Amino acid sequence: MVAIIQSQPRAAVRILRFDRVQRAAHWANAALFAVLMATAIALYFGSFFGIVIQRHTIAEIHLWTGVSLPAPIIVSLIGPWGSQMRRDVRRISYWTRDEIRWIKSLGKTPLVADKFNPGQKLNAIFIGATILVMLATGSMLQWFRFFPVPWRTGATFVHDVFAFAVFVAVFGHTVMALTHRDSLRSILKGWVGEGWAAVHASGWLKEQQLTEDSATFESRE
Ligand code: HEM
Repeated sequence: MVAIIQSQPRAAVRILRFDRVQRAAHWANAALFAVLMATAIALYFGSFFGIVIQRHTIAEIHLWTGVSLPAPIIVSLIGPWGSQMRRDVRRISYWTRDEIRWIKSLGKTPLVADKFNPGQKLNAIFIGATILVMLATGSMLQWFRFFPVPWRTGATFVHDVFAFAVFVAVFGHTVMALTHRDSLRSILKGWVGEGWAAVHASGWLKEQQLTEDSATFESRE
């Protein structure tokens, strides 16, 4: 393992972008979202799917998948294995003036990008907020006896609106992943090339080059 201290990106050098814990958390989270979205369609268009699987069974799968939704993120954040995840959460919550300007101009202003560009940061914040909102409103739908009627009505409305937003966001996220192969590979295998980082995350690359215990490693190919 070697730290890189040079300005010209080298094609064969790989930089670790997501460690095993982060990749496992991402795919566990994606699997839970997929089950929730599939069962949500069945619940929403109940009469059709009821012919194949009973509504009660679908609602149970939806509920308990929903209750376990925060688990991958919590597990990946706690404990000694979560240091990179915790560092990335701090990155996502830290916004510079340039990043705010970039997002307001829809990416037209210049930016020395961090590990995540502002669009990726927004997506992560949206997913985090969605998990909390869906957990809260879903629990109110399930354990409704403890809540007054106006709260329950509001919870149903918010759950449905966020459900729609989740479908839009997941569709957009999937299109971006399939059209940005280097990013996709980094969440599958962990690494990006130094050339990619120089173009898409130059601020982060500089930081990696200056950090002595950088998780940067040379390609063995
Ligand atoms: C990706 C996240 C989620 C999506 C897209 C989603 C979507 C939906 C949709 C579309 C419905 C049907 C609402 C209707 O018929 O008007 C529903 C119902 C429900 N959801 Fe979710 N939901 C999600 C997460 C959760 C979570 C985290 C919980 C956890 C408690 C939860 C619990 C419930 C319950 C209890 C119902 C009512 C089921 C029934 O009709 O018996 N959902 N959800």
